[in-house]
Amino acid sequence: MCGIVGYLGRDEAYPILIKGLKRLEYRGYDSAGVALIDGQGELNVYKAKGKVSDLETYCEGKDTSGSIGIAHTRWATHGEPSATNAHPHYSASGRLALIHNGIIENYATIKENLQSLGVSFRSATDTEVLVQLIEHIQKSNDLDLLGAVQVALHQVIGAYAIAILDREHPDTLICARQSSPLVVGLGGDGDFYLASDASPIAEYTDKVVYLNDGDIAVMQLGHDLQVVNIDNEEQHPKVRQIDITLGQLEKGGYPYFMLKEIFEQPGCIRDCMRGRINVDADRITLSAVIDYREKLVAARRIIIVACGTSWHAGLIGKQLFESLCRIPVEVEYASEFRYREPVIFPDDVVIAISQSGETADTLAAIELARKSGAFVFGVCNAIGASIPRQTQTGVYIHVGPEIGVASTKAFTGQVTVLSMLALCLANERRTIDGARYKELVAELTRIPEKMEQALKTNEQIERLAPIFTYARNCLYLGRGYNYPVALEGALKLKEISYIHAEGYPAAEMKHGPIALIDSEMPVFVIATRDKLYDKVISNIQEVRARGGRVTALVTEGDERIRQFADHVIELPDTVECFQPLMAAIPLQLLAYHIAVCKGKDVDRPRNLAKSVTVE
Ligand code: F6R
Repeated sequence: MCGIVGYLGRDEAYPILIKGLKRLEYRGYDSAGVALIDGQGELNVYKAKGKVSDLETYCEGKDTSGSIGIAHTRWATHGEPSATNAHPHYSASGRLALIHNGIIENYATIKENLQSLGVSFRSATDTEVLVQLIEHIQKSNDLDLLGAVQVALHQVIGAYAIAILDREHPDTLICARQSSPLVVGLGGDGDFYLASDASPIAEYTDKVVYLNDGDIAVMQLGHDLQVVNIDNEEQHPKVRQIDITLGQLEKGGYPYFMLKEIFEQPGCIRDCMRGRINVDADRITLSAVIDYREKLVAARRIIIVACGTSWHAGLIGKQLFESLCRIPVEVEYASEFRYREPVIFPDDVVIAISQSGETADTLAAIELARKSGAFVFGVCNAIGASIPRQTQTGVYIHVGPEIGVASTKAFTGQVTVLSMLALCLANERRTIDGARYKELVAELTRIPEKMEQALKTNEQIERLAPIFTYARNCLYLGRGYNYPVALEGALKLKEISYIHAEGYPAAEMKHGPIALIDSEMPVFVIATRDKLYDKVISNIQEVRARGGRVTALVTEGDERIRQFADHVIELPDTVECFQPLMAAIPLQLLAYHIAVCKGKDVDRPRNLAKSVTVE
């Protein structure tokens, strides 16, 4: 959701900025723009509705020279997607240009004030209000840019990551952060890179500074990075090393990132377990559990907060913690939790799950939990993101950057981490028998190999996919551990193919959704062999009796379901609690192939953003 890139150095900025915007395309956007100061001190701004490639076309033949610049991909919040509303926004005199991620909540009041002082506006955005405010302060108080930014930010309520250029100071780039991520990359030559996440920076430098809320960074060519707050107090952020390879950021021969990421899962899950499960595959060690053993073992209750796919992983976590650790668990949509008045006890453990680590609602839920005195544990993918920095401890899922907007490998990574955490805690709490613990740990280490087998269903699913492209509605059914997988399968399909899909607990179907079933309605049933197998078969019969078309995910060698399902997809056998790690794969592939058959842009579905940094 909205992407920021900036560069200040000795090279031409434009190619770096465009490449950076392309690396951020996965976040979702509807327009893009770039601002550059050329050798003559001209500040040029170019913007286009649509893709970064549309911006490139628009810039052809224009002056894109200059070694300082900022660029942006916008996901509309205030004002329709258009070139006028796209960022950067000029100040009234054309001296400043600014890009912004987030929302300025009191923009209307500030705008009215400025209008009463004679300032006029070109766009409908909250962002333009900020740049006009900064220039107004700069002019009326004779302040330098930093001083004007500080005064302006004192007046602003909301979330922002901003970057600003001043044509009077072509060697300086200023940026600021409040509740919206920003990373500064430190080049070897006193040059600087700026971005909303590390992916556009990784190919130039591995030294980065993640700005904290309230930080304002001043980058001046050839000088050290200066970080202050709005009261001009010096801040001392840590320089960190990032470990992202170019291969991780590119498609590696796959037509889409989503397919690449689906196929990466066996390797990702191995990485996720590496160093955490010992070579004998009989013990799990998580440093967070060693460091905070007492808090975690004594948890009176676990509350899981998350959104979207991460929430689905949380539902699987609930079953794992309840059955293995005997700890009661509640799973909450972060967006609901933050605005209720939830009862939170000091001996609750709140687990926040997030791929991006920047989801605004999840961050707000964490803040609420911390204020209530609960212990907050993060399960995150993006290293150094806001969530791991705002939780007391946590576990990274280590599945590498996820670029496809539809989450795939992050889901299985989250489920793997939750499985390891539940097993660790169950062992510490003695709620699991030693032999069973070892058996489950050993089975977990076999999952990547079984995932490789599950991925072999790809060809069969590719052949099946065209059958479902006509569908307007689909139903996904599962029970127990597979119910959240049904929800996740349905979410994947609607996100990228725009076919409406519902996930339901299979037995709940007869309490309503059964009315929808007819021969036009594809029904996908997760019917792997577990304790609810016979019950799920009855549910399949109920669908069949109403003319429904059933595609069943079954355990390999299952001949029973084959007799009455229209299509059967076989999966390797595993224990019940790890079945989601198998069943998720064909459902991801199914959504992918149906969307491709329908000609959809799988990696950039309409209206969606990868990192939802506004509420
Ligand atoms: C689904 C998807 C979203 C995210 C949700 C939470 O494919 O990607 O539903 O899961 O926006 O994002 P994170 O996990 O980054 O907090």
